[in-house]
Amino acid sequence: MRILLSGGAGFIGSHTYVELINAGHEAVIVDNLYNASDRVFQRLEAITGKPVVFCNADVADKAALSEVFQKYSFDAVIHFAGYKAVGESVVKPLEYYRNNLDTTLTLCECMREYGVKRIVFSSSATVYGMIETMPLVETMTSAGCTNPYGWTKYMNERILLDAAQAMPDWSIALLRYFNPIGAHESGTIGEDPVGIPNNLMPYITQVASGKLDHLSVFGDDYNTHDGTGVRDYIHVVDLAKGHVAACEYLMEHQGAEIINLGTGVGYSVLDLVNAFQRVNNIELPYVIVDRRPGDIATCYADPAKAKELLGWQAEKTLDDMCRDAWRWQSQNPNGYRD
Ligand code: UD1
Repeated sequence: MRILLSGGAGFIGSHTYVELINAGHEAVIVDNLYNASDRVFQRLEAITGKPVVFCNADVADKAALSEVFQKYSFDAVIHFAGYKAVGESVVKPLEYYRNNLDTTLTLCECMREYGVKRIVFSSSATVYGMIETMPLVETMTSAGCTNPYGWTKYMNERILLDAAQAMPDWSIALLRYFNPIGAHESGTIGEDPVGIPNNLMPYITQVASGKLDHLSVFGDDYNTHDGTGVRDYIHVVDLAKGHVAACEYLMEHQGAEIINLGTGVGYSVLDLVNAFQRVNNIELPYVIVDRRPGDIATCYADPAKAKELLGWQAEKTLDDMCRDAWRWQSQNPNGYRD
């Protein structure tokens, strides 16, 4: 298969690129490098031993994207491109709605014009909102999102579900990621947040490297086994393999499917901190502070549908995630800026 990766230079996109090439597919990365570095490409070439095909274009730019579709024929598209910072989305809602919806609409218009009928969309467990019944199953109705970023994922799902109704020969997978962490085991590609990280694992790795002083644990009075928030952390390489399985599934099936990509197991903040300390033999100073507004106590997937439909399940352990995240951070203290 030849697959277009919109936003393919980013964290999940770059790991998915590697797994697609490993599985014998071809990929064309389209990215405007707004939140990614062109240094990732030489790393991808070193890992795969093949030249990267990269188009520097904004996925919302119809003329630029049309040129890409004109130049290559694609069997499928994986759509990662979009803004992803929850806090920033609250401050800049218009930018988030404009960018995250425009990219999807432009991509779908190009697909229709050039006869490409398969798309995998990078959605998120955030669309379930404040549901408190666990595990989260794809058939549950969203309890509403808590921020504009989440709503853009929700609306993009809606757009694609409606597109599937109107174009029954399209094949669509809406992949709801839980909490992707870790990095490729080479330690050469990984998550490279701008500024002070908001998410737990990048924060932990920067504390471990001494860039940040200590971790603030947001609340220890949740109704969980140790009082700290529980999440379904999934290794980014497992997640990437889920995308390969989804593309292969779409070759054989029409219509739209919503699919959770999680492990089905929840770990608390302190579980993650303790695993990280043990596996990497590093002490992580932390303090307990107030809950972070908008956080829920517990969130984990029912991953049964992914196994049934895609034959995919997560294989890597929490220890793998901690080891690989630290390898990336310690080898690249400044991310791709080194
Ligand atoms: C967040 C987003 C979600 C997004 C996901 C990307 C919210 C409400 N949700 O999920 O939409 O898809 O990131 O991975 O922002 N924690 C600390 N200290 C920290 C950072 C986090 O204790 O410095 C705790 C949080 O309270 C939570 C857990 O760690 O219990 C995970 O937090 P985080 O990595 O930010 O992910 P989510 O909030 O689950």
